[in-house]
Amino acid sequence: MKNLNTLITSSGVRMPRIIYGTAWKKERTEALVIEAVNMGFRGIDTACQPKHYHEAGVGIALQKLSKQGIKRESLYLQTKFTPLSGQDPKKIPYDQNASLTNQVLQSFEISKSNLKTNYVDSLLLHSPLFPFSNLMEVWKAMESIVESGGALQLGISNCYDLKVLERLYKEAKVKPDVVQNRFYTETDYDLVLRLWCKDKGIIYQSFWSLTANPHILTHNTIKSLGAKYKRTASQIFFRFLIQIDIVPLTGTTSETHMKDDMSLFDFELDDDEAASINLLLL
Ligand SMILES: NC(=O)c1ccc[n+]([C@@H]2O[C@H](COP(=O)([O-])OP(=O)(O)OC[C@H]3O[C@@H](n4cnc5c(N)ncnc54)[C@H](OP(=O)(O)O)[C@@H]3O)[C@@H](O)[C@H]2O)c1
Repeated sequence: MKNLNTLITSSGVRMPRIIYGTAWKKERTEALVIEAVNMGFRGIDTACQPKHYHEAGVGIALQKLSKQGIKRESLYLQTKFTPLSGQDPKKIPYDQNASLTNQVLQSFEISKSNLKTNYVDSLLLHSPLFPFSNLMEVWKAMESIVESGGALQLGISNCYDLKVLERLYKEAKVKPDVVQNRFYTETDYDLVLRLWCKDKGIIYQSFWSLTANPHILTHNTIKSLGAKYKRTASQIFFRFLIQIDIVPLTGTTSETHMKDDMSLFDFELDDDEAASINLLLL
């Protein structure tokens, strides 16, 4: 039974097969991260983007968890560099007039200070920049963070154009290990891009997995599997994603849903069942 709840990335980083996302939690971030980790989550996703994330709240939670005996090294911590286009103009965390290289370096210093750590397991570029030369300037700065030990691996988010990803992969010295994308019909669930990622050993993380897919969650295929396994539709869908090697993010604020997520590793869909859900993505 494929029930191991972690995987190892191409850079040798241990990544949980489901990750707790901290967007939009504001002052509840600290308490929810503590609750999620106490419930069994070992992966945390955040960003140096005050518009959507309270990164310092994650850091306080990590400090308290460490005092409780859950050490930083036992957690997978992922943050992001968010380009200016994704920042609230009134809350830009770095000097917007600095070079792109310095924006990345400043942002990462703030992340380390917020998170009260010397390193992150994963540093993602929140969205591609254009022209491509700008993306590469940012990526090179992120590579320098890996080279100095500040991040164990790199990734990119909101990258739906395979050509951009292929070019980045070709030109990067430190190859991306993670792609974090919205999982929805508008991009055909990134089918081609996901196959390419798999071939390159890149882990695909999904967000909006539940919210963008009510038509899947209410489909008879999922309903009957839910009845068979005595699981909710969300559990069946998350379990399916995990079995096809997608790492879903969940930002649940509910204790019940956190428990549901932690019990995703207690059952397994058979190959035909997974294939029947896969058909819903086509
Ligand atoms: N890279 C990016 O640009 C980007 C963009 C968006 C999100 N993210 C990341 O992804 C994380 C997750 O965000 P998301 O947009 O996927 O959605 P989300 O914040 O997880 O919200 C999902 C919705 O589904 C509900 N839900 C969660 N687990 C459930 C379960 N087991 N059963 C039933 N309902 C459940 C939640 O309600 P309850 O609270 O009641 O459970 C919530 O209403 C974010 O926190 C962030 O870290 C990244």
